[in-house]
Amino acid sequence: DEIKSTNINFEDFQLTREDYEKRNGHLGAVIWLTGLSGSGKSTIAKAILAKLNADGKHVNCLDGDNVRHGLCSDLGFTADDRSENIRRIGELSKLFVENGNITICSFISPYQKDRDFVRSILPEGKFFETYIDCDIETCKQRDPKGLYKKAIAGEINGFTGIDSPYEAPTNPDIRLKSDTYPVADLVESVIVKLKDQGII
Ligand code: PPS
Repeated sequence: DEIKSTNINFEDFQLTREDYEKRNGHLGAVIWLTGLSGSGKSTIAKAILAKLNADGKHVNCLDGDNVRHGLCSDLGFTADDRSENIRRIGELSKLFVENGNITICSFISPYQKDRDFVRSILPEGKFFETYIDCDIETCKQRDPKGLYKKAIAGEINGFTGIDSPYEAPTNPDIRLKSDTYPVADLVESVIVKLKDQGII
């Protein structure tokens, strides 16, 4: 009996998002990187992560490597599977934000409705749709994983930008021209935006 009542007291203890944000000294937010394969999403995500971490912020990254191998390992690349992928990642990023984190998500996320869904489940002002704007010819030339080559040869079906759509954001919160500017400049643009919006 004694143990039970102790547990009840313990379970009553709750921290709100505001409590976590106060502890962290900054607000929670989602920096959502969307763009073609090879546009530089992962490289830019890592650089933002390193900068915010060096500045002592509570920051984490979600990307294909840690999501598609686990939480979303049952999903492929049909339109429905991509939507479900983004929905789950959105819900996960919401949990991180509720814990006061700045969460960087880097996914192709080709459909505007899916990105809008993630925005809709987060508190106002916490979703930063960040368009990694890179000319597809540059992506094809870079082709770091040789996937464009395979897609063009017909060895992959439904590859984004080849035979599967990419809906570029029309009004992103942040636009990063990754075929024009060095990564350090792009990171700085994100930092400036986060400061302007009072996140950090
Ligand atoms: S999505 O559309 O947001 O659900 O995609 P995402 O989870 O970001 O996964 C994209 C990575 O998966 C590899 N890959 C493909 N991409 C696009 N289309 C098809 N058909 C495909 N098949 C495998 C590819 O390596 C993507 O990685 P990035 O880092 O974007 O190049």
